[in-house]
Order: sequence, then structure tokens, then C-alpha cells
Amino acid sequence: MSLLPFCEWLAATPWSIALHESLYLYPLVETTHVLSLMLFVGSAAVVDVRLLGLAFRDLPVSEVTGRILPWTLAGFAVAVVTGALLFYAIPVRTYLSIFFRIKLFALAAAGLNAFLFHRYWAADGRTWDLAPRPPRRARWAGGVSLCAWAIVIVMGRMIAYDWFDCDAQPQSAFVNWAAGCVVPGP
Ligand code: HEM
Repeated sequence: MSLLPFCEWLAATPWSIALHESLYLYPLVETTHVLSLMLFVGSAAVVDVRLLGLAFRDLPVSEVTGRILPWTLAGFAVAVVTGALLFYAIPVRTYLSIFFRIKLFALAAAGLNAFLFHRYWAADGRTWDLAPRPPRRARWAGGVSLCAWAIVIVMGRMIAYDWFDCDAQPQSAFVNWAAGCVVPGP
């Protein structure tokens, strides 16, 4: 099911056009998007290195997560709102961007990893809260989190590059399929 007709409708709305053509607002939103990842991914990485047993080993995991999580959630909220605005400004090109699609997969993987970790933590965390080197499952959660957010950031940066854009044909059959390009027949 393609969301392309919806994105084309979105791109024709006056606010989308105004944001896209704005001299200062779009750069302001994009700058805020980049700054938000500093707070969000930066704070999340502190918890991840504790879970990996690489740093803050003398601090209980609960203390690290308890102090940091509010900042992580605040940064995430700003990243999602500004990200949605960036999408709204250029919906068709972004929707057809192979980098944006990989970014959404990495976002979903990071979200699932966080959900499964918090469920594991709620069930078992007390038994290893003080452990300098947490159990394998917690270390895996920290490692997967760091990798997934790194992919989100790199793919976010790549969205600006038009190497695999649908309107830069010819593209390979795989790229046209993965990006959802509508390629007119011969
Ligand atoms: C929540 C975690 C997120 C992180 C860490 C993140 C990170 C990034 C980064 C590093 C860039 C590159 C900025 C630049 O170099 O100029 C970017 C661009 C972008 N992001 Fe995100 N992002 C996140 C969420 C989202 C969401 C939820 C959306 C949309 C639904 C989104 C949409 C975009 C778009 C459209 C761009 C391209 C802007 C452009 O190149 O003009 N992001 N993101």
C-alpha cells in the first residue's frame, strides 16, 4: 500500500509549501532536530555504556537510568516533533528516500529494543542493579541501542543526498523497489 498519494496531497498544502520555502524556519527546525539528538542520543548512550559495563560501573543501573531518562524522553519528543515537521516540509521526496526508509526501520528496531529491555528490567533488574558488568541480555540491549541510533543518525544525514532519488533515473530495480519509485513503462 503506497502512501504516495497522501504525501502528494500533503505537499500541496499551504503550510507544507510555506515551511519548505521558508528562509529561516526550515533551517531552524532542522537545527533543532540536530540539537535534539545531542540530548536524546547523548543521554541514551550514557545508559547504554553502563549496560555494557564500560562506564559508571560503580553506580547502580537504576540510579543512572532514573537520573537520565527524563532528559532522554525530552530529547526524543523534540526529535520526533521536528522530524515530523521536516517530513511535512518535503513529504514526497522524503517518503521516496531510501535513506529515510532505512532510518524508520532503525527507529522501529531501537524502539522495540528499548521496550523489550524495559520489560526485562522491570522483571529482573533488581538482581543485577549493582553489577559492574550486567548480564548478557542487558549488554545486548545497550549494544543494539547504540548501533540502532547510530544508523538513525547516519541515515538522517544521508537523506539530503540524492544518489538514489526516484527522479534521478536510471536507478537499479532494487532501488526503485525499495524507495517505492513510480517508474513509467517503456
Ligand atoms: C528520534 C530520533 C531521530 C534522530 C536521532 C534523527 C536524526 C537525524 C539527523 C542526524 C539528521 C540529519 C540532519 C542534518 O544533517 O541536516 C536527520 C534528518 C532528518 N530527519 Fe531525523 N532523526 C530522528 C527522528 C526523525 C523522525 C521521527 C522523522 C520523521 C518522521 C525524521 C525526519 C528527518 C528528515 C526528513 C530529515 C532530513 C532533513 C534534510 O536533510 O533536509 N527524523 N535526522
